Amino acid sequence: MNDVPHQRRKRYSGKNPRRFEDKYKELDPNLDPATVAKVIASGKTPAGQHRPILVDEILERLAPQPSERGADVTFGYGGHSQAILEKLGTTGQLLALDCDSQQLPKTEARLRALGYNEEQLLVRQSNYAGLSSVLKKVGWDDGVDFLLADLGLSSMQIDNPARGFSYKNDGPLDMRMNPARGVPAREWLEKCNEKKLARFLEDGGDELRAEEIAAAIKTAIDHGPIATTTRLRKVIEGALPKRVREEESAGTVARVFQAIRIAVNEEFTALDAFLGKLPTCLRSGATVAILSFHSGEDRRVKRHFKEGFHAGTYSEIAPEIIRPSPKEIGENSRAAPAKMRWAVRADG
Ligand SMILES: C[S@@+](CC[C@H](N)C(=O)[O-])C[C@H]1O[C@@H](n2cnc3c(N)ncnc32)[C@H](O)[C@@H]1O
Repeated sequence: MNDVPHQRRKRYSGKNPRRFEDKYKELDPNLDPATVAKVIASGKTPAGQHRPILVDEILERLAPQPSERGADVTFGYGGHSQAILEKLGTTGQLLALDCDSQQLPKTEARLRALGYNEEQLLVRQSNYAGLSSVLKKVGWDDGVDFLLADLGLSSMQIDNPARGFSYKNDGPLDMRMNPARGVPAREWLEKCNEKKLARFLEDGGDELRAEEIAAAIKTAIDHGPIATTTRLRKVIEGALPKRVREEESAGTVARVFQAIRIAVNEEFTALDAFLGKLPTCLRSGATVAILSFHSGEDRRVKRHFKEGFHAGTYSEIAPEIIRPSPKEIGENSRAAPAKMRWAVRADG
């Protein structure tokens, strides 16, 4: 007899669960593949998953071949890695990095269950800023034949209210990609002074009302910590003139959340450090592809490739940005802002 007491599943109102934690059929995709397929067919991302973007374009550009070694420095849910591993066959090797200490073991387990062993798929928890030292540690001192970086957040991170990334879900104001490091956004906001906060909102969110919003946030904190995503959303909305609040508050809130997330995770510092070392991580003739999701990222990638091309570090760079097709955006609205650039490492 089974002694584990039967637990009733939590009830939710309506036909389908709305809250992330109630979407048990999506969170365990083996439970009911038909539900997962239905969510995907409706253009949405199932809870606890991430749909890889520009997969065909990336495979075409990186052209992974059996016996090559490559790196995916933003492992996420492992969608791109999985597609690359299929091309690498049993003789190629992929090094996968991610800084997210919570998600990484789940993705590793998912790909191991598909049959990829430790020879074929090397998984390491690391910030991509430290890629060159990880390469040395695994004995790949001369670099890789191809490299992918799919910047920003995964859907698992955005959708899970407990991670505190989204203004659409109420949750603790955390926003750390690696919850084992740094301070949550709630604390970061308390420590940051108003002037610096306004600058972060401008740099990371291109926010025109940066000064007013920074002032509103600091004033609100004087009356008590901003401990939840909902409270932060309300403070931002409260800083907007009535007309703006009615017409475009969602855009402003999204930009401010993005800017704070970039600051909390020091994303620009990490990207600059990664780009600075990138040429030393690539073998001659290696192709690197980078997907970015906002202007602050794309500006850096564009500048790095352009300067590298003129300096002779790269023999070829993408003549123009590659974007998802209308069909891909129709099937996955989160693909819409993606911009891909690539470059080929010159000899020597
Ligand atoms: C857009 S998702 C990648 C999705 C992945 N390509 C897939 O197919 O599932 C970005 C991932 O990069 C990770 N990440 C972001 N910044 C990072 C950094 N500086 N170092 C390492 N990983 C980072 C995030 O934790 C997230 O899992």
